[in-house]
Amino acid sequence: MTLETTTARPAPTADWVTLADLHTDPFPIYRRMRDEAPVHWVPDVGRYMVTSYESCHLIENDQETFSANETGSLMKRAMGHSMLRKDDPEHDVDRKSYGSVLRPKAIKETWNAIFERNSEAFLARLQAAGPGADLISEYAAPYAAENLRLIMGFHNASQEDMQRWSQTMINGTGNYADDPDVWAASKKSYDEVDDAIDEVLPYLLRNPDGSLLSGLASMPIPLEAIRANMKMTIGGGLNEPRDVIGVAVWALLGNPAQLEQVKADQARFAVAFEEAVRWVAPIGMYPRETTRDTVLEGIRLPQGARLGVVIGAANRDPKVFADPDRFDINREKKPHLAFGGGNHFCAGTWVARASVAGVALPRLFNTLPNLRLDPSRQAVDAGWVFRGMTALPVTWDQ
Ligand code: HEM
Repeated sequence: MTLETTTARPAPTADWVTLADLHTDPFPIYRRMRDEAPVHWVPDVGRYMVTSYESCHLIENDQETFSANETGSLMKRAMGHSMLRKDDPEHDVDRKSYGSVLRPKAIKETWNAIFERNSEAFLARLQAAGPGADLISEYAAPYAAENLRLIMGFHNASQEDMQRWSQTMINGTGNYADDPDVWAASKKSYDEVDDAIDEVLPYLLRNPDGSLLSGLASMPIPLEAIRANMKMTIGGGLNEPRDVIGVAVWALLGNPAQLEQVKADQARFAVAFEEAVRWVAPIGMYPRETTRDTVLEGIRLPQGARLGVVIGAANRDPKVFADPDRFDINREKKPHLAFGGGNHFCAGTWVARASVAGVALPRLFNTLPNLRLDPSRQAVDAGWVFRGMTALPVTWDQ
């Protein structure tokens, strides 16, 4: 043991934290935890939860001590062994296989036009559903799913398939209760995605189209890696854009003065996007595992400790963000952790920014006059590992 590990204190236990409370509203819990210590052992979660900005930031930049390759990972069971659960150099091989498909040049040349088309199509669907419709199910979710379907190259699937695959495999990833029905639905999607990949790869070899699968079709990457990375990207590339659309709209409609600012200067949709993902990080927590005894901000952690890196809490750390619980597009610009950091920094950041801040939000507010929350029905936000709006009824002038 080093001097540091002998002088450090053990993590306090937060036996007052429950999964049910985290699901409903994690933010008061995070505040109390952060005030007490940067790291807690949380029995109900079965992990050490890391809630300070400084510790989360340290972890994501030190894969030697904090490995993404977690023992007994449910994600590996639900989706296969993707890049998200590998460390470098293995991770780097998979990550490089994505080439420049998700990067700004491809977005400008190919994907932006598709985002515009999809936004128009699903706005028409929302309008057809009429005032009082749910913004998430009629607009945000199908829009995010259809964008991802085309970026990935699933020409033999529908946006509904993408939504079902994503949700069932995410449920498998979070199936700590080991519910056999959840595993069955997750496995069904696992097999359907494999079949869809097997079917579409030869087609894309003959008809290349700039999609992820099209690029991978001609690469010497093992099929198992392609399959796992595609499943992880279906799970990781759909809910988050959907959820940031929902949270940004909810926050702007609840803060009319800020909405007016954004409408008057539409470049500020980009600021509203960054503030929305800081305020409610769509991925609130991701796992890591210690490879050796270590110390985090004075707290001792044993080798093999399972950690929850709670970026949803780090993003509201008052040491970094003043008045952190407030949604405020005028706050001082500081780097948030919503897209992670280090070698696993989100590969889809530019897609998310372009599709949401560049297209989905401005088109929505510019198309529906006097868009507002439906006063007759409740908007609902929920979740902590993934958090977003589960219902967002809206109305507008016709
Ligand atoms: C607002 C939207 C999004 C947010 C907040 C977000 C957040 C994140 C975070 C926090 C991670 C790192 C997780 C970890 O280290 O365990 C990540 C990784 C990743 N994301 Fe995103 N994401 C978003 C959108 C997207 C989209 C649209 C795509 C695909 C088109 C995507 C693809 C990926 C991939 C492939 C990785 C794995 C990167 C690696 O392991 O090197 N994400 N994302």
